[in-house]
Amino acid sequence: MKGIVLAGGSGTRLHPATHVVSKQLLPVYDKPMIYYPLSVLMLAGIREVLVISTPGDRPLFERLLADGHSLGMSFSYAEQAQPNGLAEAFLLGASFLAGSPAALVLGDNIFYGAGLGEVLQAASAEPSGCTLFGYRVDDPERYGVAEFDASGNVVGIEEKPKQPKTQIAVTGLYFYDSDVVEIARSLRPSARGELEITDLNNVYVARGAARLKVLGRGMAWLDTGTPESLLEAGQFVRVLQSRQGSHIACLEEIAYRMRYIDGRALEGLAARYGKSQYGAYLRSVLEEETQA
Ligand code: G1P
Repeated sequence: MKGIVLAGGSGTRLHPATHVVSKQLLPVYDKPMIYYPLSVLMLAGIREVLVISTPGDRPLFERLLADGHSLGMSFSYAEQAQPNGLAEAFLLGASFLAGSPAALVLGDNIFYGAGLGEVLQAASAEPSGCTLFGYRVDDPERYGVAEFDASGNVVGIEEKPKQPKTQIAVTGLYFYDSDVVEIARSLRPSARGELEITDLNNVYVARGAARLKVLGRGMAWLDTGTPESLLEAGQFVRVLQSRQGSHIACLEEIAYRMRYIDGRALEGLAARYGKSQYGAYLRSVLEEETQA
């Protein structure tokens, strides 16, 4: 399975912070926002990732993440010239995917929780259909909202409904079989002129091929869409990291724990961060492991 991080959009709700730089490059406490969704794909066991951004921001993402080699990953880059909708990711990513199943994560979605890695690996191992994730929220009208039958199967998704039928929002993390590109090609723009991810998901629902897993209260799905929620997400990360002493979305640590890189490689990466807290943390991960 291959992965796509979609980091397009103009981030207008965060202006002026996002006037000259993409929202997904803003820090969430101590690291760029895109580290968080990227860490989700890495935890799912995905090693080939396409980062889609605006033409203006693409060079910045390439400078930040390079070709991924040092993390045992392979990163490539593509541009979404216009905000034509999330499902366009599969048209832009068709040659990258080359018939492979795909996971898509939105570049501003942050997930955290015990057992997340297992949940993700189970989703990526599904042989067909799609796996979506739901999360109970207070303000479902801001999201895609799922509807269920009596046995808990998803029967439809509505994009930003004025009167939501449930409180279960569909998060920005999606796992699809290799039909996804063909389905994306069959979509027509919505009333707001976008290829909607919700329309794509509803094709899978109509085929009886969509699973929706509700992430329980032990999991966090954080919003970064407004100045307040961005600050809160940073505070959440800070509180957990300083209390537990372990980092959230530390890509080098994940690469090491997933065995994408070995201890020597991690040592080299830690050296690059010099005396920063981040570098010290990476060295502590190594020491802990050698003591164990
Ligand atoms: C998008 C999707 C929506 C989903 C949300 C998750 O909305 O269209 O279905 O619930 O991402 O973050 P956007 O945030 O782009 O308005």
